[in-house]
Amino acid sequence: MKHELLALLAPIEQQHVLAFWDRLSPDQQQSLAEQIRELDLDLVHSLVHTHVLPRNGPQGGSPAPLSTSGGVARTLPAEPPASLAERAVGPPAIRLNGAGASYPVDEARRTGIQAWSSGQLGVLLVAGGQGTRLGFDHPKGMYPIGPVSGCSLFQILCEKVLAAQRRYDVTLPLYIMTSRATHDETCAFLAQHGYFGLAPSHVTLFRQGSLPAVDAQTGRLLLESPSSLALAPDGHGGLLRALRSQGVLQDMQDRGLTRLFYMQVDNPLATVGEPLFAGWHLLEQSELSTQVVAKQAPDERVGNVVEVDGRVQIIEYSDLPAEAAARRHPDGSLVLWAGNIAVHLFELPLLAQFSTADCTLPFHVARKKVPYIDESGYRVQPERENACKFEQFIFDLLPHARRALVVEVDAEQAFAPLKNAPGAPRDAPEHVQARMIRLHRRWLEAAAVRVAPGVKVEISPLAALAPDDLAGRLPQNWQIEADTYIYAAADGSLAWRGAK
Ligand code: UD1
Repeated sequence: MKHELLALLAPIEQQHVLAFWDRLSPDQQQSLAEQIRELDLDLVHSLVHTHVLPRNGPQGGSPAPLSTSGGVARTLPAEPPASLAERAVGPPAIRLNGAGASYPVDEARRTGIQAWSSGQLGVLLVAGGQGTRLGFDHPKGMYPIGPVSGCSLFQILCEKVLAAQRRYDVTLPLYIMTSRATHDETCAFLAQHGYFGLAPSHVTLFRQGSLPAVDAQTGRLLLESPSSLALAPDGHGGLLRALRSQGVLQDMQDRGLTRLFYMQVDNPLATVGEPLFAGWHLLEQSELSTQVVAKQAPDERVGNVVEVDGRVQIIEYSDLPAEAAARRHPDGSLVLWAGNIAVHLFELPLLAQFSTADCTLPFHVARKKVPYIDESGYRVQPERENACKFEQFIFDLLPHARRALVVEVDAEQAFAPLKNAPGAPRDAPEHVQARMIRLHRRWLEAAAVRVAPGVKVEISPLAALAPDDLAGRLPQNWQIEADTYIYAAADGSLAWRGAK
């Protein structure tokens, strides 16, 4: 087995990952061999020579020859974000105040209802990220975010899908993308909770691929232990490879799906089943639509949805130069105003087209601190960023869409991202919960319920997907004086309880 692996690694000068081979148990050898065989080594080699070595001065310079053709072309760096940012302007969009819409709202709503009821729409949830910033030792979807119920993100999002199925009397197949880091626990968690009421035959979990972290100076693969490579998920853009390699695209096509509502596992306010977004998407014949919020400050930590040379695209907050972010119109409003909340609607043929090897998205390189095993077998805990990780972003499809549509939504209603650990200044559990409580309080007040100040309220998606669902189903003159979770009882009526 060692010879076979050496034959794979030697042409790309990465044999050092077998340095401890003779000391490994047969099981460990097997596991390392599997990791190596699963990697697209030509791709890794090409990434090192296009994205890592050229940054380290002329000696790293030109791309090395590849063992098969075409590799370098697959990984040519995209235009640097700073240069894109110079030409970037705010994108054309349907704004909250109705500006930018070519069709009446009623028509969009009718069309959206048809889209959700059509049986051609599926839901895609990306949940492969490692969630490092949250400091939670499980997949982020298992985080108990419900402010009163303690429900997990997975429960809330699955219930949204189930509620939308009931509302539109249709099956909405749910696809959940996981990764090496999150797959097994996510599968076990969903099975243990009966898929939160969804039919298991309509829930598909599939694993995205991994890419290795490499030394930022030398491009050498890093070992996490003597028997394992330092691997990370290949970014949510890895969706495209996974769709084909895991047979998911075929499954979608077999089920007659033509479009997918896409959301991230970290946003419990994602508007599953909301008709207007889908309505605008269809009326405008968009191939890829995306929801944005108006940024409140230039340095807000959301991707920037912009237009460059007539094409919509996203520049990550970490890549946008401060001067570009701070540009303002004479009326004081931000030029780059549109923040990405990562809720998209994809036409399936666009995903299918880009899931083939000849169409590929650019790779983004992140410099990270990655612990590794050095040549003498010692574990090194680096103090500075020592490694490069590679990721693709699904939103880099935007400029390739025949037509892309940007729709503004209200952050208070549609965006509460869970990113950071409790106590962080933003995007921590307490911020997410505060926004959920505020929204549900508003829904209750609109249904003539009085909620005492400081009281926490939470509504299960199965009780109400939108405020109208509460109408006429709550006690008259109800005053809520203590923390309350409103949910759907087995017979479909509304029930409530305090915190557990
Ligand atoms: C992301 C967006 C940012 C947007 C913000 C909104 C990127 C690069 N940036 O930021 O523009 O404003 O969300 O909340 O996406 N994931 C995978 N596989 C991976 C990596 C991530 O499935 O390999 C999933 C995660 O599970 C998560 C989502 O993608 O659901 C976002 O990932 P994350 O890396 O946390 O992006 P952010 O930096 O938070």
